[in-house]
Amino acid sequence: MARTTTPDHPFSQPVAHATTTGMSGGGFYNANSAAQWTAIETILPLIEEAIATLPVDGTGPIGVADYGCSEGRNSIAVMKHALPALLARTERPIQTFHSDLPTNDFSELFRSLRQDGGSVFGSDRIYSAAIGGSMYDQLCPPQTLHLATTFNAIGFLSRRPVDKLPGYILPNGPSVARANGYVSEENRRAFAEQAKQDIARYLAVRAKELVPGGKLLVEVFGSKGPARTCDGLYDLLNDAVLDFVETGDISRDAYDCYYQPVYMRELKELTDPVTDETYGAAGLFSLDRAMEYEIAVPFVDRFKKDGDLDRYTSDYVNFFRAFTEAVLRAALPESPSREDLINRIFARAEDRLKADPSLYPFRYAAVAILLTRNG
Ligand SMILES: C[S@@+](CC[C@H](N)C(=O)[O-])C[C@H]1O[C@@H](n2cnc3c(N)ncnc32)[C@H](O)[C@@H]1O
Repeated sequence: MARTTTPDHPFSQPVAHATTTGMSGGGFYNANSAAQWTAIETILPLIEEAIATLPVDGTGPIGVADYGCSEGRNSIAVMKHALPALLARTERPIQTFHSDLPTNDFSELFRSLRQDGGSVFGSDRIYSAAIGGSMYDQLCPPQTLHLATTFNAIGFLSRRPVDKLPGYILPNGPSVARANGYVSEENRRAFAEQAKQDIARYLAVRAKELVPGGKLLVEVFGSKGPARTCDGLYDLLNDAVLDFVETGDISRDAYDCYYQPVYMRELKELTDPVTDETYGAAGLFSLDRAMEYEIAVPFVDRFKKDGDLDRYTSDYVNFFRAFTEAVLRAALPESPSREDLINRIFARAEDRLKADPSLYPFRYAAVAILLTRNG
């Protein structure tokens, strides 16, 4: 699908407790997030387990919230899967919340929730709403949620822990094979620490919203052994951006300050804040499940089957453009030619990938935990 976001971009700076304004809107993220769906699909059994054990006694609505819903396609799909089992367990009405940053493009989500005058979830006992806010803040009243989820989102840090990352555009650094940059040990530690603090903060605010016995499911891209969801992809974006540093279109200083404020966690970095006293969230939740896994990436699989290089390069670049573009835009000085430069950077990425796809192999690993609210 062609990219169709509006050219004026009214929200180019992130709100508090966020480091991006969101995904590329206008349907672009929805159209380019099949890999993220595959990562969610793999852990549907965890959601089934959570639903089967939710505390449903009492009156009033059962609250189900998804944080970092983006344009909503995957958020709706996962709830479509989960809610029938919940309906079967209770007569209570169900309130779904789909939450993302205030700067997120919610248009597709709103269009989808009640397209035909009834709930997209096919029941008149299900009511839906959207909430704009950072997931690192409390967004729902105390003890009103029974299940909270987040998918492929908590890798986006709440703040930039360093001002400059001069050697590469991602804190985890380049792939071993490509080695096209560096990140100092000190900077790596700063990001790893920030990532843990973010989890703790997320746990603390969700703990306020959840009823005792409520469930929290956290899934995010990350790493599993040698498979890291950053390799290939950020190497390619880094190379493309550097091409424009060389031509002088991007200043060296702008490059030094630019990085994607995203951290790829290992499973232990996700689980530590659940139990480690130093992060301030220990004891709020008990850990039911912890998983690390790798998925088959749909556009990689298709390319292996059909060998269609044009399609592979556009699918691959659109996939990462959807979640990197907003941060890249905010890192470039505002000018009449900025949109054109952004288009050229992603076009350059396509050219580089097409010239030698073997330089940028991509794998998608994810980590996930299922927790129960203590108390
Ligand atoms: C890659 S998308 C994931 C969308 C969807 N959950 C999925 O799996 O397809 C990441 C989402 O996290 C959101 N996000 C990033 N930082 C956030 C924050 N601090 N609070 C809430 N949402 C945030 C982004 O706006 C984006 O919509």
